[in-house]
Amino acid sequence: MFPSSLLGPLLLAIVGRSSALNFTIAGGQIFTPGFAIVDAPQPDTPLGGDLLEVALDVSANGKLALPPYPDNSESRIHNITIFLYSYGTGKNFTITNGTATANNASLGDIMLSEPGSTVKHVKWTWPDCLVGNGQPSAADSDRGLYNISIRQNFRLNGADHYTIFDLPISVTNSIESNLLRPACDSLNNPLLTPEEVTISGANDVPVLFAPGDSTQVQSSGGGSAKPGQGLGSGSPPTWHTEAYWVCIAGLAAAFWL
Ligand SMILES: *[C@@H]1O[C@H](CO)[C@@H](O)[C@H](O)[C@H]1NC(C)=O
Ligand SMILES: *[C@@H]1O[C@H](CO)[C@@H](O)[C@H](O)[C@H]1NC(C)=O
Ligand SMILES: *[C@@H]1O[C@H](CO)[C@@H](O)[C@H](O)[C@H]1NC(C)=O
Ligand SMILES: *[C@@H]1O[C@H](CO)[C@@H](O)[C@H](O)[C@H]1NC(C)=O
Ligand SMILES: *[C@@H]1O[C@H](CO)[C@@H](O)[C@H](O)[C@H]1NC(C)=O
Ligand SMILES: *[C@@H]1O[C@H](CO)[C@@H](O)[C@H](O)[C@H]1NC(C)=O
Repeated sequence: MFPSSLLGPLLLAIVGRSSALNFTIAGGQIFTPGFAIVDAPQPDTPLGGDLLEVALDVSANGKLALPPYPDNSESRIHNITIFLYSYGTGKNFTITNGTATANNASLGDIMLSEPGSTVKHVKWTWPDCLVGNGQPSAADSDRGLYNISIRQNFRLNGADHYTIFDLPISVTNSIESNLLRPACDSLNNPLLTPEEVTISGANDVPVLFAPGDSTQVQSSGGGSAKPGQGLGSGSPPTWHTEAYWVCIAGLAAAFWL
């Protein structure tokens, strides 16, 4: 018998070999350290086509209202910026930094897109240097492994946070040449080292709002919940090892029990 404290997580969890990163996935949703939940793509998906599409629930599955937030709101998303970067190719493209550039080569504030919808569908045209098909064919190719880097500036129960969540994908499916593709140079930013990226004070909250996490969201006024109360209380238990990522799914019940 498993200790009963592990039974809940085990009932829900599949532990599978994958990249060296952990992901908390439940019902196909990838939970992040913040209000955003990634509906798509899944980690390590090969992508291509005309556009990169990222579907983000910005309401923590309905726990946070959509903007405009009340003035005294204790919980809100200040903004979400997204970059596509790779230490393999040295590129760091802007997907959105809040200000759209010509032809939406980089996108405006995603919180204002699709008003009324809790899921924002970020659609970003692959820039020209990613054109190709299959694995990178030459050493100087810009195709290959990337992270979709989702940066959330938000307030949770009166406390401001900034978190960075990197979702790995591979740019290896076919991307056809098209004169409308933006120039990579127009979207590229300096690539910082991991040490430079981790600014002090960032990432001070764990993955939030996954099933079992009891974090309450206070919306306005000075309620009784203390900032940070309940944070991550349902975060994944310590039996997750680095070489595994965690996939929470009902299926596992059959596997484990
Ligand atoms: C995002 O919000 C933070 C906190 O309010 C602010 O400092 C930062 O300038 C904002 N960034 C963008 C791109 O709007
Ligand atoms: C993706 O991000 C992780 C850490 O967040 C890093 O270790 C890895 O090198 C990055 N992958 C690429 C292709 O840059
Ligand atoms: C970007 O797309 C939005 C929504 O489709 C549109 O309203 C806006 O005018 C576009 N902006 C630019 C700079 O092309
Ligand atoms: C946003 O990103 C675009 C494309 O990389 C860049 O040209 C622009 O200067 C950036 N704006 C801000 C405010 O960082
Ligand atoms: C990518 O560029 C953005 C904007 O300059 C920066 O904030 C971010 O830290 C960069 N990411 C990496 C991995 O260097
Ligand atoms: C994976 O998650 C466990 C438990 O949450 C944590 O201790 C470990 O540092 C994580 N590993 C990586 C590579 O993020």
